[in-house]
Amino acid sequence: MFFKKKRKLKVNQEQILKAPLPQHIAIILDGNGRWAKKRGLPRTAGHQEGAMNVREITKLCATIGIKALTVYAFSTENWKRPEEEIKFLMKLPIKFFDDFAPELVEHEIRLKVIGNVEQLPKDLQQKVQEITELTKDNKKMTLTIALNYGSQDEIKQAIQKIALEVQNGELAVDEIDESVIEQHLMTCDLPPLDLMIRTSGELRISNYLLWQLAYAELYFTSVAWPDFKEEQLYEALADYQARNRRFGALNESK
Ligand code: FPP
Repeated sequence: MFFKKKRKLKVNQEQILKAPLPQHIAIILDGNGRWAKKRGLPRTAGHQEGAMNVREITKLCATIGIKALTVYAFSTENWKRPEEEIKFLMKLPIKFFDDFAPELVEHEIRLKVIGNVEQLPKDLQQKVQEITELTKDNKKMTLTIALNYGSQDEIKQAIQKIALEVQNGELAVDEIDESVIEQHLMTCDLPPLDLMIRTSGELRISNYLLWQLAYAELYFTSVAWPDFKEEQLYEALADYQARNRRFGALNESK
């Protein structure tokens, strides 16, 4: 009988779990289209596989103790894609939320959405509201889905809100500091971002979490998002743990 030889893991999972893990990971889920094309499938099949993978990676992150995972599902620039693809990408989260809801409850994961939700189709808005409400008291991890999100737009909205508070006499100009700005961002209730992963080989930030990335470690991999599995996550974690995070200061211990 033929037994496939078990592939040896390149990283030691046990060792990784004993060392400090990032509290907050963000991922740019890139490469769904190329993943599908390589297999002779329509781009939408890549997005479907990508959504399934978000579920798996989310559960894994919750299980190993990551406190927040923030994924980019639709950007403010993605409206420029063909109509058929946009239609699919607006329906996909509805099914994703429906299928994932019992597991979000089981794993005590809170679901949060950032972006301009009010511009999304009504049925998707309703679903977002429903799942947010269902999971609002879950404490183990927060899964944030960026839907119709753009970081420059988020910063612009924060500035507008702060300006209004100044205009109304609720805030003085010299009281505006980094923490005030952070409190007005859509990520205000999330821990600081530690690690940003982008799959599929592009070396760009693509208008994602620009403010929040200030001191995050960046990790780029050529693996397409649907192929980014447990082993690839551990490789990213090992890489993160090998970095020397100084936050602008000196650290002579490493
Ligand atoms: C980038 O791949 C991916 C997107 C623009 C959409 C990402 C959406 C998903 C993974 C589905 C997740 C959905 C939920 C609800 C969590 P691409 O299309 O740019 O791929 P390409 O660069 O290979 O063309």
